[in-house]
Amino acid sequence: MLNAAAAERNKGPILAVLRDCVSTDRPLQALEISSGTGQHVTHFAQTLRNICWQPSEYDRKSLASIEAYRAHYRLANVRPAIYLDASMPCDHWGGIQPESLDLVLNINMIHISPMACTEGLFKGAGVILKPQGVLLTYGPYAMNGQITPQSNIDFDYSLRQRNPEWGLRDISHLSSIAQKSGLFLEKIVDMPANNKCLLFRKESLV
Ligand SMILES: C[S@@+](CC[C@H](N)C(=O)[O-])C[C@H]1O[C@@H](n2cnc3c(N)ncnc32)[C@H](O)[C@@H]1O
Repeated sequence: MLNAAAAERNKGPILAVLRDCVSTDRPLQALEISSGTGQHVTHFAQTLRNICWQPSEYDRKSLASIEAYRAHYRLANVRPAIYLDASMPCDHWGGIQPESLDLVLNINMIHISPMACTEGLFKGAGVILKPQGVLLTYGPYAMNGQITPQSNIDFDYSLRQRNPEWGLRDISHLSSIAQKSGLFLEKIVDMPANNKCLLFRKESLV
């Protein structure tokens, strides 16, 4: 069971957003893309028992960690983790069917992966979400071409030093990519430590 300090800190605030944006009284299907250690999915699944959670990862060590968390908590509403590369077309996403999900969750991946992953995330979510389904993303973002505060400017710089394809993305750019897949930015929620949750809803393109 790997432990990420950031996940430990942000899992409570993200759960509060989830409770506000998804129904808690009917069965729902959710996919988490880039589940990391497994801390988030097992935390959310303990409270949001009406949701059947599908964790996924690209990294093999993380897949093993998610399985260790699943074995530890023995949650009936968390499925075995699947390998999922967000940059691939969604017909390579472990057999997840079009319009089968109520929620797609993605925490702290968009800025720490190449843009192809973000494009794949929105494109795939546009296909696998049911109409009115929600894509919720969490992380630090630029807004109207500006990154604030200085700590996020420094973070963006350090990410780009590590990998020129990484870096904070602008919310308006994400919103326009999302729209091409029928997802509309409905809500921006300010989160602790200069992060945000972005809630996109799948709507008809007509
Ligand atoms: C900063 S970690 C965040 C993990 C977790 N969501 C969290 O917040 O603790 C970034 C994650 O993005 C994942 N990732 C990188 N490239 C990916 C890809 N092509 N498809 C899916 N996930 C990817 C990594 O494996 C890693 O788990």
